[in-house]
Amino acid sequence: MPWQAGPPPPALGGTARAVATPLPRIDRVPATAYIATMALRDILILPDKRLRQVSEPVKKIDAGIRKLIEDMFETMYEAPGIGLAAIQVGTPKRIITMDLAKKEEPKNPQVFINPEILWTSEEKATYEEGCLSIPEYYSDVERPAQVRVKYLDREGEPREIEANGLFATCLQHEIDHLNGILFIDHLSKLKRDRVLKKFTKAARRAAE
Ligand code: NI
Repeated sequence: MPWQAGPPPPALGGTARAVATPLPRIDRVPATAYIATMALRDILILPDKRLRQVSEPVKKIDAGIRKLIEDMFETMYEAPGIGLAAIQVGTPKRIITMDLAKKEEPKNPQVFINPEILWTSEEKATYEEGCLSIPEYYSDVERPAQVRVKYLDREGEPREIEANGLFATCLQHEIDHLNGILFIDHLSKLKRDRVLKKFTKAARRAAE
């Protein structure tokens, strides 16, 4: 999910880019070339068919998965967004990155691996949702107000949480992605078709 009411996300072009950030020199000793690399990944945009894929569970948290998680955070913060599912960067793995910290608060990066909804409340809540894969489109979505979710953390430790408010909505939105579901699927057919048509046209124009 994107930051709300922020400036439109900058256009993401090309394939994964590496950004080299040298550390600032702190003394007169010739600087050693210390290069930190982070890779931004392209975010898939509606109507990319890959967004409809059901993602596979993560079996082992190896170096590839850790790198994917790092890149997902870089990509999410850059967008800027508050939640991202791995399939949105084209990798059909059941991984979600999230940071619901407000701009003035310290960062709070959270990772959910193989998340599963164990329980949802009868009570509903409505939030205006958006999606980094459906840029600049927002609409109210009603979902259960509270959820209980089990997942693995970054270290592969099993955890369980109960969420409410924006956290609950964001978890449901991102878990939907892992099942090939987009927030527009929760809207009326009329609204959904209108959005689909608009993005299909835009994709066709961009391909010309
Ligand atoms: Ni989304």
